[in-house]
Amino acid sequence: ISCGVVIVAAGRGERAGAHAEGPKQYRRIGGRPVIAHTLDLFLAWSPACHIVAVIHPDDEALFASARPDCDRLSVVHGGATRQQSVLAGLEALAASGISHVLIQDAVRPFVEPAILERTLAAFRTGAEAVLPVVAVADTLKRADANGHVAETVSRAGLFAAQTPQSFRYPTILEAHRRAAASGRGDFTDDAAIAEWAGVRVQLVEGSAGNVKLTLQKDIAMADQRLSSALP
Ligand code: C5P
Repeated sequence: ISCGVVIVAAGRGERAGAHAEGPKQYRRIGGRPVIAHTLDLFLAWSPACHIVAVIHPDDEALFASARPDCDRLSVVHGGATRQQSVLAGLEALAASGISHVLIQDAVRPFVEPAILERTLAAFRTGAEAVLPVVAVADTLKRADANGHVAETVSRAGLFAAQTPQSFRYPTILEAHRRAAASGRGDFTDDAAIAEWAGVRVQLVEGSAGNVKLTLQKDIAMADQRLSSALP
């Protein structure tokens, strides 16, 4: 098994609000940009042979100052949607000879090595697609158009999807290419593209700490979490 990694970081981060440090993947937590934490984690994980960061063309300078100096890391430009950005990253690995690929949101800087190891273990037993999840803890309500509860939804069998979402490389490259060619540009994650292509997706345990930084408050909490961990 040889693993490539695609780290998508080409979003504009609009839900987190504008900030002088740039989009949320470049905001500083624990004194360093979010994406630097994410890159370090994958660079330290030895099965990751090659890493592609997918960035926005406007963020060249931001990325250059955030990136570690490492020749296993290359950079390509993303697209208007996450789906397009992932495909750009996958295409960039076409000549690399990898057998598997992990696709990670730059804005999940707390992914744990244990999740990566569970993914690798699933690959070794033949999984084509691996998705880390956590069980939904809250009681779920469906709302009506007037902001009232229409019904309580059973949470039995419901999980929240995390990243990295990981695949046999030829399988996900083909599925992504087919989705793009058939005009399906509305997938919000890569497991959904695999499902659409008829690939069985194996669930592995994610972790509550592997949060996605979406809003300003998420960034503030992440910063606090890292700062309080300092000696
Ligand atoms: O916007 P959202 O929070 O879903 O983005 C998840 C990840 O996808 C982020 O790391 C973001 O930078 C990336 N993304 C991207 N290209 C886009 C939109 C999002 O690489 N056009």
